Amino acid sequence: MLSGSDIRRQLCCGKESASADPAASESLQSMEFIIHRFESVTSTNDVAARLADEGAPEGTVVVAREQTAGKGRHGRSWSSPAGEGLYLSLVLRPEVPFERVCELAFVTSVAAADAVKLVSGLPARIKWPNDVLLGDRKVCGILIEARRQSAVCGLQSVVVGIGMNVNNQEFPPEISQTATSIALERGGSASLEEAEEKLLSCLGAWYGKYLREGFAPILREWRILDCTAGREVAVNTADGVVEGRAVEVDERGDLIVEREDGARTCIAAGEVNLYDA
Ligand code: BTN
Repeated sequence: MLSGSDIRRQLCCGKESASADPAASESLQSMEFIIHRFESVTSTNDVAARLADEGAPEGTVVVAREQTAGKGRHGRSWSSPAGEGLYLSLVLRPEVPFERVCELAFVTSVAAADAVKLVSGLPARIKWPNDVLLGDRKVCGILIEARRQSAVCGLQSVVVGIGMNVNNQEFPPEISQTATSIALERGGSASLEEAEEKLLSCLGAWYGKYLREGFAPILREWRILDCTAGREVAVNTADGVVEGRAVEVDERGDLIVEREDGARTCIAAGEVNLYDA
């Protein structure tokens, strides 16, 4: 149920003077967001996908106070209690080939890390490919769902879903050792409105930079924020678990892992567990 009429908001990223991110201060480009607010939905990604299928333009945003069936990566659920976290999905329509949609994981995680930094005042880092961490615990997760009309067509729309743990004090048992929130880390509650505003501002800035300058500057910033390279990891992939030392993330965004025998594996998709966390 829509809790209010759609709100149009233009965030001029160049005016975000408190921003931690260089793109925001450089960019004069603004992105117009059309925000749809809900009290409770199953998943903001599902609502955004429906709107996208109905022709909603790039910049359409769905925000809910609660999700009853929040979706995580790899078929998991995303804990979404009312009023504790930020649950936001953004419709994008970039003119890039379907194969390059994974680049948006890097754009989004850099923006989300900047937003977490601005709201918490703490140094947020990124675990490959797009988990935002405070310390070694996850504070923000990203689920990107892309559509194309057919196997030969380009992208039709992309829904970028972001869940940020803002004021959560506890988590379900299965993630209680790995998840955290901004409130827990900084020792005091934070404003959901501020989190939303900072997130949209940073998304507008970094996505604008990506459209203008391509993937290279995004990856440069991502590598600065990365906490994966150099660590001992176990990566769950579709082909099994790869264990070894994370060497680097290459120019396409793939993770290079060196096994004990020195052989290197290039991983395009997977879930990283940091051994020494
Ligand atoms: C992950 O597993 O790390 C990704 C979590 C993504 C959660 C967000 S919350 C807003 C949007 N709606 C969903 O159902 N999922 C994403």
